Amino acid sequence: MNKIVITGGLGHIGTSLIPKLLYNKKNKVVVIDNLSTSTINIFFKFLERKYFNRLNFIKIDLSKKFKPDIFKKSNIVIHLSGYTDQEKSFDKSVNIIENNFGSTKNIVLACKKYNIPLIFPSTTSLYTPRKKKDVFLTEESTELFPKTPYAKCKLKEENYIKKKINKFLILRLATVVGYSEGMKFHTVVNKFCLYSKLNKKLPVWSTAYNQVRPYLSIEELVENILFFIKNNSVQIDGRTINLLTENLSTKEIIDKIKKFIPAKIKIINSKSMNKTSFELKKNFYGTNTNKKFTIEKSIKNLIKMLNFI
Ligand SMILES: NC(=O)c1ccc[n+]([C@@H]2O[C@H](COP(=O)([O-])OP(=O)(O)OC[C@H]3O[C@@H](n4cnc5c(N)ncnc54)[C@H](O)[C@@H]3O)[C@@H](O)[C@H]2O)c1
Repeated sequence: MNKIVITGGLGHIGTSLIPKLLYNKKNKVVVIDNLSTSTINIFFKFLERKYFNRLNFIKIDLSKKFKPDIFKKSNIVIHLSGYTDQEKSFDKSVNIIENNFGSTKNIVLACKKYNIPLIFPSTTSLYTPRKKKDVFLTEESTELFPKTPYAKCKLKEENYIKKKINKFLILRLATVVGYSEGMKFHTVVNKFCLYSKLNKKLPVWSTAYNQVRPYLSIEELVENILFFIKNNSVQIDGRTINLLTENLSTKEIIDKIKKFIPAKIKIINSKSMNKTSFELKKNFYGTNTNKKFTIEKSIKNLIKMLNFI
């Protein structure tokens, strides 16, 4: 039996990943969450009943002291826990360090103690470019300029992981798009879909309408994580990679939403704004080069699911 520990498993990404892991009868999944921004919803209760002998939930605040022996004999840790609302992180910079860096430190020490490989989701917000001209970036870019307290903390977490352990895989995730049972709607595309459904105007930053950014479909993300777990000894070897589905402008995103639901915009200002576009080079890992995953498909599925609410 493979023991897979998922921290923050009740959130947006975790609730998409957990059922896929449980389809494989050889996997046992331990979910750790402090329920600070998620709840145990009906969907998770259903999973707990269906997979009662292979799914465990443990409520722990990972930023505080806890007994690391719950990690003992794990095959892998997927560390998804953290405070994740980047826009609101400006008012929470102290909490972010305490909560996110504190948790990552504890997890890294547990992984080190029991020699467990770690998958850590970082963010493509580390690449926020400073110059005015548009730029095209890869993970080899050494010039990292995180702007928000959330992104600055991610860089601190990345550096700590690299200093302390060898068996890790850092995934710099583009903004994740798509439906899951634990989703929060604080990232841009998911929020735009919800607002359109509620007949509310979409708040677009004054600098952002034609700016290009990388986005990642949740379905493609999950497929990649499953691939990395399967190829644990090959892929989890201390590398840092970007994960994205497509680079798109805000205008292109809104046009895709409009294919499925009417959408109107209003222009606003935000502390996270900057004047440059940036695109990331796409590499393929667990998915092949055909157009199996697109942001449009994730938007379509999310809007379809919102119709049930
Ligand atoms: N969703 C995205 O667009 C995106 C993009 C880049 C990176 N990421 C990263 O991926 C990871 C997962 O993202 P998500 O969207 O699923 O997040 P989420 O906010 O939906 O879920 C995070 C979970 O962590 C839990 N948590 C927070 N602090 C905790 C603590 N101290 N102890 C235990 N549990 C705690 C929360 O209760 C929540 O269930 C995060 O690290 C996030 O920064 C996400």
